Amino acid sequence: MATRRRRTATHPPYAVGCMAFPATRMRRLRATPVLRDLVRETRLSPADLVMPLFVHTEPGRRSIAAMPGVERLSIDELVREAGEIGALGISAVLLFGIPAEKDAEGSGAWDPDGVVQLATRAIKAAHPDLLIITDLCLCEYSDHGHCGLLTDDNRVDNDASLELLARAAVAQARAGADVIAPSDMMDGRVGAIRAALDEEGFADVPIMAYSAKFASAYYGPFREAAGSTPAFGDRRGYQMDPGNGDEALREAALDVQEGADVLMVKPALAYLDVVWRIKQQSRMPVAAYNVSGEYAMVKAAAAAGYLDERSTVLETLTSIRRAGADIVITYHAKDAARWLRLTP
Ligand code: PBG
Ligand code: ZN
Repeated sequence: MATRRRRTATHPPYAVGCMAFPATRMRRLRATPVLRDLVRETRLSPADLVMPLFVHTEPGRRSIAAMPGVERLSIDELVREAGEIGALGISAVLLFGIPAEKDAEGSGAWDPDGVVQLATRAIKAAHPDLLIITDLCLCEYSDHGHCGLLTDDNRVDNDASLELLARAAVAQARAGADVIAPSDMMDGRVGAIRAALDEEGFADVPIMAYSAKFASAYYGPFREAAGSTPAFGDRRGYQMDPGNGDEALREAALDVQEGADVLMVKPALAYLDVVWRIKQQSRMPVAAYNVSGEYAMVKAAAAAGYLDERSTVLETLTSIRRAGADIVITYHAKDAARWLRLTP
């Protein structure tokens, strides 16, 4: 014990070039709002945010029980909503479709008059500057609610799904989607989608890949919103195990090799280490999806008076950016953009 060198003022413990107290007083730079603003490392701007939207074929708006403030919108309402989102300085919307009818293959996903394709055309016509990212998956369109095509014995058939996903990507691009975001977690889908887009003349349409998408309980409210709960089983055969971080790096590396332009981690808060590691390893643009269950928790606590919604949301979104996300996909986007305009 006696021989162990103690950490004292002459042997600063961690930071290089950091004098010990009292030469160093961390509070000096926290003294005033303007100083704090000057040295803030991570900033949040409406331009970093993406707002997910649900579009259905029915008229009007329909609320979603576990997601107060989020609604399923008709195409007319969606166009109005998109206008407000663009006016707030938010860069993009992420579209999810709820079709009138579902079938075994999920054909609404590639129907030229499928709900997302119609919605994309309508938004583009009214608000050409707003970026439209289309979520690409079969689970909202298939009667079984799984993200790929089923085999006769009810397994999700990876390779047979690729062709359908590629077809849906081309339909979305034809409708005017600016970015295609595959969320199905089939192996090889980024490459299959890239090849199909290139072949059909959409070489300039980027792919935002849901690279590290975990099998998460935090998707619960979304499945009510999108009507996409699997009819049997779960998604653990294709979505990632929550315990795996190294595997997320392999997923990300494969997506880069297959031609992904942006890598996404989902959910965000329980996986900030994965956001950090993917950013450090790939140096690619990284998006993090602050999912429905994360939104629901904050809304429920705020409604009960347990948390202050505004400061909780801004702190949460800032932490996702600090972990390395360039882009934050969040149902709080509109509120956050309004709050950011009022206070920096
Ligand atoms: C499925 C999909 C999910 C979400 C978006 N697309 C999850 C799932 O049902 O497995 C979740 C989004 C959210 O929770 O906000 N392709
Ligand atoms: Zn899916």
